[in-house]
Amino acid sequence: MKRIGALFTVLALTLGASLGLAAKPVVIKFSFVTTLNTPKGKAAQALKAYIEEKSGGTMKVELYPSSQLYKDNAEGLNALIFNNIQLLVPSATKLKGYNPAFQFVDMPYLFKDTEHFKRFTQSEAAKKLLNSLDKAGLVGLGFWPNGFVHFTANKPLRKPEDFKGLKFRTQTSGVLEAMMKALGATAVPLAFSEVYQALQQGVVDGQENTLSNIYTQRYYEVQKYLSLTRHHRLDYVVITNKIFLNSLTPEQKKIFLEGIAHANEVAFAEAEKLNQDALNKLRDLMEVVELTDAEREALAEALKPVYDQYGDKVGWDLINAIKALR
Ligand code: SIN
Repeated sequence: MKRIGALFTVLALTLGASLGLAAKPVVIKFSFVTTLNTPKGKAAQALKAYIEEKSGGTMKVELYPSSQLYKDNAEGLNALIFNNIQLLVPSATKLKGYNPAFQFVDMPYLFKDTEHFKRFTQSEAAKKLLNSLDKAGLVGLGFWPNGFVHFTANKPLRKPEDFKGLKFRTQTSGVLEAMMKALGATAVPLAFSEVYQALQQGVVDGQENTLSNIYTQRYYEVQKYLSLTRHHRLDYVVITNKIFLNSLTPEQKKIFLEGIAHANEVAFAEAEKLNQDALNKLRDLMEVVELTDAEREALAEALKPVYDQYGDKVGWDLINAIKALR
C-alpha cells in the first residue's frame, strides 16, 4: 500500500510540474509614501533586487511608492499588522502610538549629522526602541536615514519672529506641535500625500521636510523660499509583522533579513547624496535662505521649551544616550 501511495505522490508532483503548478512565490508587499527617487525609494529598489536574485525568483518584492496603496498613518500600520502588506518604512514619529519615544527624531537640534544618527541606529537604545514594537505584533528590523528637515514658505524664515502667525503642515506629532507653538506658529497635521494641494490652496503657509522630499514632491512649484534650518531629523523605521516573518522557511528568512541589511547600507550610502543633489536642483527653483550659525542658535534657543514639555515623554534616558553619541 505504501508503495502505491508513494507512486501516486510522484505522479501528482510530475503532473503538477508539467501543468506549470510550481510553488507560488512568496510575495512581499512594500508600501511607502515617497517616490522611488528618494533615500527610501532607492533602498526599496535595492531590497527588491537583492531578495529576488538571491531567492532565484521564489520570493518577490512588490513596491507601491507614492502612497498609491496606503498612507503610512494608521491605515498603513493596520494593513501591516493584519499582514495585508509585509513591509512599511514610516518616519519614526509615525510610530509614537506604540511608543512615544519614537518622537526622538523630532526633538530640535538633537542630532549633529547623519553619522551621528548612524551611530545611534547601532546602539542598545535603538535596539530597545525596535523591541518595543513587539507587543503590537510588529517586528522592528532597523532604521533607514533620510536627513535633516528644513522649512519652506512664501517668505524667508530666519529668526523665531518670522514664524509668528503662520500655519505649517507637520507630521502628526506632539513634539512638532510644541515646536510650532514655541515659534508662535500653528502645526497643521496632514498626510504626506495631501501636502502639495494644501500648500497650493493656501490651507497652510508652509511646511517642513527633507530636501529630497521637498524636491521630489515639487513643493518648489507652490513655495518661494527654502530656509536651511536643519531643525530636526526625518528618519525611518523598517517594520514587518510577525505573521509574515513566522511564515517564512529558515532559508527564506535568511534571504529576507540579509536583503534588509543590504538595503540598510544602500540607504546610508544614498541619503546624503540624494539630499545634496536635491539642494543643488532646488537652488535653481527657489530662493534658498542660508542661515548663519548664530541664527540657528537663536532658533535652537527658542525651541528649548520643547525639551521641557516632551523630554519626559520621549525619555531622558534615550535623549541623553543620543547626546552621548555626538
Ligand atoms: C516620508 O518621508 O516618508 C514622508 C514623511 C512625511 O510625512 O512628511
